[in-house]
Amino acid sequence: MKAKKSILRITKILFSTALAIVFALSIFGCVEKNIRRYADAKKLDFGVAVRPSDMLYPERAELLADHFNILVAENTMKMQYLRPNPTFWNWSDIDQLINFAEEHKMKIKGHTFIWHSQNSGFVSSLNTREDALKVLRETITETLTRYKGRIAEYDICNEIFEENGTLRDSVWMRTIGPEYVDIAFQTAREADPSVKLLLNDYNNEYAGTAKADAFYNLVKSMVERGIPIDGVGFQMHMIAKDPIKEAALIANIRRFNDLGLTVSFTEVDVRIQMPVTPEKEAEQEAAYKTLLRIAMEEPNVKSFILWGYTDLQSWIPATFGGYGSAHLFDDKFQPKPLYYTLMDMIKAK
Ligand code: XIL
Repeated sequence: MKAKKSILRITKILFSTALAIVFALSIFGCVEKNIRRYADAKKLDFGVAVRPSDMLYPERAELLADHFNILVAENTMKMQYLRPNPTFWNWSDIDQLINFAEEHKMKIKGHTFIWHSQNSGFVSSLNTREDALKVLRETITETLTRYKGRIAEYDICNEIFEENGTLRDSVWMRTIGPEYVDIAFQTAREADPSVKLLLNDYNNEYAGTAKADAFYNLVKSMVERGIPIDGVGFQMHMIAKDPIKEAALIANIRRFNDLGLTVSFTEVDVRIQMPVTPEKEAEQEAAYKTLLRIAMEEPNVKSFILWGYTDLQSWIPATFGGYGSAHLFDDKFQPKPLYYTLMDMIKAK
C-alpha cells in the first residue's frame, strides 16, 4: 500500500515537472522568435516602414506587432498621398496606421513633409513664395495638430542636400529660398511642442564627406540660431559589399551628440547584388551587425528603423536594378538567419 502511494507521488512529481518544463520551453520558444521583447526591454526603438495593406492582412499585422515597436509609413504621409490636391486630405490610411500602432503599444514616426520627391501636382507647380509658404505652413500645422501627442518623431525635411553639399534644387528652394528649412521646423514646433523634429537624409552618415559635413554645418547653425530641431536621421541604405566605415560613422554620431541631438537610423536596408551567394550574405550580415552594434553603443542613437521587412514588397529591386534580398524576412514572410543574428545581439546587450 505504502509502496503504491509513493509510486503515485513520484509519478505526480515527475508529471508536474515535465509539465513545467514543457510550459517553460513554450514561453522560451515564443520569446526566442520575438525580437521586439528584447528591444522593448532595452528601450531600443526597433521599427519598420509599412504600407496600408500590411495592416489588412492579419498575418502581416501580427508579424509587425510581434517584431517591431515603432512604425513609419513608407509612403502614405508624403505630400502625394497626404494631400493630393489643396482641399483633399487623405487621413484614412494614416488614422488606420496610428490606431494600429496604439492598439499594439507601438510608436509612430512621421515621414515626411518637405521633400523634392513624391509631391502632389499642385505642390510641384507652386511658383510664388507666398503660395508655397501657405502650403508648407498649412500642411505641417494641419497634420501635427490632428495627431498632436501621438507621433514620436517626424522627418520634417528630407534629402535637402546634393552630394557636393549644396542645397538641392526643389520647389521649396526655388519659391521660398534656403530659409524654408527653418520655417518648416518652426512651424512644426508651434503645432506640436512634444514631437521630436528631425532632418533626414542619405549619404550623410560618414563625417568627412562633402554632403555629411554640409548637413552637419546646417544643423549646427540651426541649433546655434535657436531653430527647434531634436535630432537627425541617417537613412542608411547600404550595399552589402561596402564595409561600414565605423570610425567616420561614430565620429559623425558623436558630433551630433555634442550638439545635444539624437541620431536615428531611419531607413536601414543592406542590399545584395543578385544572385545571392553565401559570401554576399555574410557581407550583408556584417554590415547589419555593425550598424546595430553602433546604434546600441552610442547613447544618442535612439532608433533603428528598417525600410521594409519582407523581400516580397521591397522598394530595392525597382530602384536599384539588379539588387535585392535586402531585408530580414524572405518573400514568404519567414525570418532569415540574419533576423536571429540581430535578435541575439539585442538580447545580449
Ligand atoms: C521610397 C519608397 O520605399 C517607395 O515605395 C517609393 O516608390 C519611393 O520612395 N528615401 C526616403 C524614402 O526618404 O521615402 C524612400 O521611400 C526611399 C529613399
